[in-house]
Amino acid sequence: MTGEALLEVRGLSHSFGGLSAVAELDFTAIRGQIKGIIGPNGAGKTTLFNLVAGVLPATVGTIRFKGEIVNRMPAHKRVDRGMARTFQNLQLFAGMSVLENVMIGCHARTRAGFLEAVLRTPASVRETRAARDRAMAALAELGMERLAERQATDISFGEGKVVEIARALAAEPELVMLDEPTAGLPHGDIQEVAAVIRKLNDDGITVLLVEHNMRLVMSLCDDILVLNYGRRISEGGPEAVRKDPEVVSAYLGEDA
Ligand SMILES: Nc1ncnc2c1ncn2[C@@H]1O[C@H](COP(=O)(O)OP(=O)(O)O)[C@@H](O)[C@H]1O
Ligand SMILES: [Mg+2]
Repeated sequence: MTGEALLEVRGLSHSFGGLSAVAELDFTAIRGQIKGIIGPNGAGKTTLFNLVAGVLPATVGTIRFKGEIVNRMPAHKRVDRGMARTFQNLQLFAGMSVLENVMIGCHARTRAGFLEAVLRTPASVRETRAARDRAMAALAELGMERLAERQATDISFGEGKVVEIARALAAEPELVMLDEPTAGLPHGDIQEVAAVIRKLNDDGITVLLVEHNMRLVMSLCDDILVLNYGRRISEGGPEAVRKDPEVVSAYLGEDA
């Protein structure tokens, strides 16, 4: 697949103490792709997302998004620039409605400051309304608007996974990073999440997909990056990656 490089990672490394979680990593995500990132547990997939999203500081190597180096950019600014992500463990807030949870995704996009929000100035009221509209639109896009007023604790785990994706969409991203969006889901719900991923990609959003379900990865992804011990061991189309002896041996002993 050729086209504009939306995300370019070069020489990226990160270690925790002496443990090298991401090591000298190079890869590119082309605008419009669904790019899979796979690898055994502990391979560094979540760490990679944390570095790209700005949750962890990227001090070695470069992360370029839409041509701009973002290594030192705070996480909320990266959301502003068009990145959004979901978390490996469901992170919906109890005590809030589904809609309010999705509105959190708009946060980085709202301009009114804290004081304005407290004083309920016209600008902040307008922005809250706009955020509500955008959150509602994101839920509707994924066929979940019926859940809007439900409490976050009151929906199924599978619905929660889709609501989390809606929250990422509410930021109106160009790149979405999904960290194991089907983990723990029954088969029927997996198909639903797969349809959601296809839909956002059809809407023009580039997707980075960390996923253990190989059938899903192989059927959804244009291109797959395989990590092991933080390093790239293979990269390419589903067929090539599946047959790569390095990949086969990395997965020996894993039930994937
Ligand atoms: N906050 C942390 N502190 C120390 N070690 C960590 C931390 N986060 C991840 N690791 C280690 O880094 C490696 C990569 O972890 P992770 O990125 O979560 O892998 P994956 O998502 O591919 O399963 C693992 O060895 C893990 O134990
Ligand atoms: Mg992980």
